[in-house]
Amino acid sequence: MRKPERCPSTEDRAHRKGILLAGGRGSRLAPLTWAANKHLLPVYDKPLAYYPMSVLMLAGIRHVLVICRNEDLPSYRHLLGDGSRLGMVLEYAVQEEPRGLADAFRIGGPFVGDDPVALALGDNIFAGKGLGGRLAAASKRREGATVFAHPVRDPRPYGVLRFDDAGVPADIVEKPAEPPSRYAVTGLYFYDAEVVEIAARLRPSARGELEITDVNREYLRRGRLRVETLGRGFTWLDTGTVPSLLRAANRIKAMQARRGTLIACVEEVAYRMGFIDAAQLSRLASEFSNAYGAYVRGVLERG
Ligand code: DAU
Repeated sequence: MRKPERCPSTEDRAHRKGILLAGGRGSRLAPLTWAANKHLLPVYDKPLAYYPMSVLMLAGIRHVLVICRNEDLPSYRHLLGDGSRLGMVLEYAVQEEPRGLADAFRIGGPFVGDDPVALALGDNIFAGKGLGGRLAAASKRREGATVFAHPVRDPRPYGVLRFDDAGVPADIVEKPAEPPSRYAVTGLYFYDAEVVEIAARLRPSARGELEITDVNREYLRRGRLRVETLGRGFTWLDTGTVPSLLRAANRIKAMQARRGTLIACVEEVAYRMGFIDAAQLSRLASEFSNAYGAYVRGVLERG
């Protein structure tokens, strides 16, 4: 048996915490979301929440706060537990009302404390070769903020970058009717601990939400926002509507078939990141009696 390929040591970025934001009403997906929270819905062979969770894990983050609605807490605990299965520490907090993405730092302020933190939106899916390296590099930067931009055909539903004549990011506009560029800001954000104070001072926007775009604009104003492009070769999928949810499932199915590996298999990621050892991975594989379990077992055999 070949020795499995492992990711480099996570020691130097061990203290960044993560927040997985999985609240909201999911009203655009009703009636799918009447009885099940959006982030628990399947994207092909895994619950949606696994995808952003695996992205935090790939960034070397082992300590995560899951924010969800009170009524969904039992389901999330059932799905993810205390994290020990994956060599992680998971905590939970409730968002009573969908007050906006930046509310994550009001709710999660005590959790963040003095540590840098990454926020992953529960409905964003990322894939691509070299993603782990890009995330690890962003996570290593202890000061300021890092966001990832991705070119899209229709940027109007997103936060969109405006560049100055020299091509330097000059502003971010939330859901612009006339987008200043094709570059959408994706739902994965790395911040230093100052984000808590910045979020505390925010006022709700015209649509009544505490906007993450306003947090990013404040970092930009301070000259401390780093914008990285996830170009061709990276896949970014939003899953807010029924067509986009189906499209995401089809894309995941096709990419997995082409590569012969699973995207966002949290058990595999935990092992490759060194959160769990081979014995634990083998125990996890035996929890399943299906193709997913066979894949997890195969991680040890294939290396
Ligand atoms: O997907 C990237 C985009 O996400 C960014 O480009 C935008 O700048 C950012 O505002 C956000 O836009 P969306 O309109 O897509 O956000 P949405 O309201 O759909 O919320 C994203 C996720 O966060 C979703 O899974 C539900 C969850 N959520 C949302 C809100 C407003 C919460 O958990 N609590 C909330 O209060």
